[in-house]
Parts: sequence; structure tokens; C-alpha cells
Amino acid sequence: MNGLYLDERRLTEAAKVTNAWESYVHEKYATPVEFRDYNKALSIQPEVARFYKANHENQTLEHVLAMKKRYGQLDKAWMGVWETLEILNGLVDDSDPDMGDVTQITHALQAAEAARREGLPRWFILTALIHDMGKLLYFFGEQQWTVVGDTFPVGCRFADNIVHREYFANNPDFYDKIYSTEYGIYSPQCGIDNVHLSYGHDEYMYQVCQKYLPPEALFIIRYHSFFACHCDGEYDWIMTDSDREKLEWLKVFMRYDVCSKATPEPDVQELKPFYQALIAEFFPPKIRW
Ligand SMILES: [Fe+2]
Ligand SMILES: [Fe+2]
Repeated sequence: MNGLYLDERRLTEAAKVTNAWESYVHEKYATPVEFRDYNKALSIQPEVARFYKANHENQTLEHVLAMKKRYGQLDKAWMGVWETLEILNGLVDDSDPDMGDVTQITHALQAAEAARREGLPRWFILTALIHDMGKLLYFFGEQQWTVVGDTFPVGCRFADNIVHREYFANNPDFYDKIYSTEYGIYSPQCGIDNVHLSYGHDEYMYQVCQKYLPPEALFIIRYHSFFACHCDGEYDWIMTDSDREKLEWLKVFMRYDVCSKATPEPDVQELKPFYQALIAEFFPPKIRW
């Protein structure tokens, strides 16, 4: 269908790593005190450690530019937003009860419903619903290390607080004369949109939504995995005042992304009409992926 790559075994494996990584992030950022010892957390979750290794070794500026070109053309599929959310729901691993995982649609609806309950604007509720849909990259056959994970700038020095920074030792950019300097190919206050972050579902979904959503929504979608910035306050030198304003929305959003998982299981069929109407306010019936 639409060139989607539907290998169930691969998707199960992808779901497993995604869930392992996400529950790691959930633990790390929702209960920071207990999980400040990254090595301890990672020894509990070796899958996450393996993930970081592949991610840090392969996310180079060259890779990011190639992925932006490959997916920025939006010539992979032509589908409605809700329809795609239902396809993404195939990304679930119910073979591993220890994962404590939720399906993609459950996570999307939990985040959106939490925002709706607290009276956030309609664009924000929609953003919560769709923010992870860039994981459709899995269905095009992409590897986990370029779909999920914390994102970070490439083309300049990797910040000290990036988790498992030692894995950058096998990234060729680590030794590049320019990319290894503090500002690299950028200049201070150049604006976050002029910086290339490691490629994943955030950037892809931004590319998909660019024409349809307000700037604050696009900012949230594009940078929600940039934990070094929105959680740890690194890379402030990149930001303009306008970026910092939007960053406040992203910080609000993170409450719903990371902390809504404990909320009750949503009834998909009951909620579907509300969300289909909300989607129709912003998107045409089918969009390019
Ligand atoms: Fe995400
Ligand atoms: Fe999420």
C-alpha cells in the first residue's frame, strides 16, 4: 500500500526499541532523581544502550542532509491523517509484557485528551495527537537509530550532557575540523530552524505538516526530542528570542507527552469523531507523506 514496507517482524523489533527508549525517557524525565545514573538505567535496558550506540555513530551531517532530501520531497504516500494514525497502530509489541507499553494510537490520544481536559487550544490538542506520526518512517524501512531517540545538532560540537556521549567516538563528524568546534557551521543566535538536528520522526513530521500548522505547533513537532535543549538548557547559543518564546510552548507540551501515559486507556471509537473533525480543521482529507 502506497509503497509502505510492511514486514511485521521488523515492525515488532522497531516497536520494541521504540518502547524501550520511550520508557527510558519517561523514567529519566518524569522521575529524574532515581534515574540520574544513566549507566545504571542503561544496564537495566541494554537495548537502549545498543540503540544509542547506533544512533551516535551514524547521525552525521551528511546523513541528515541526505534524509532531509529523501523525505522532504513527500513522494512516499498520499494518505489522510487519521488513516495514517491507524496504520501506525501496527507498531505495537504485545509479545513483551515487561515493556509496559502502549500502542501509538493510545499514546496519541492520551496526550491529546490530557491537553483537551486542561483547556489547551485546539491546535495544541491536534499537535499532541499527531506529534509522533513521523514514526511512519519505520514503514518505509528506516532503522530505529534514525527514527526515534533524543535529537541533537550535527555540524557543530556534540554537547557534554548528551547521554552516552562516548559513542560519538565512532562518528566521523567528531573528528572534523569544523564540525567539532563549538559553533561548527553555524553562528550564535542563528535560529534553531537554521540548525540541522539528527534525523528522526520529529523532522519528518515537521516536513509533512509544514504547510498546515501554526509556527508554535511546528516548533513542538520538530523539536520535541531535543531534550538537551528543552530539558537540560543546552544549546541556548542557537536560539533567537522568537525561538525562546516557542520553547515555552514546547515545555508545556512535554508534560503531556511524557506524563500522560498513566492516564486511563482512551476509547478510540468514541473519540474518533471529535479527532476527525479536529484534523479536518487544519488538514485536507489526504496529505503527502
Ligand atoms: Fe516523539
Ligand atoms: Fe510522544
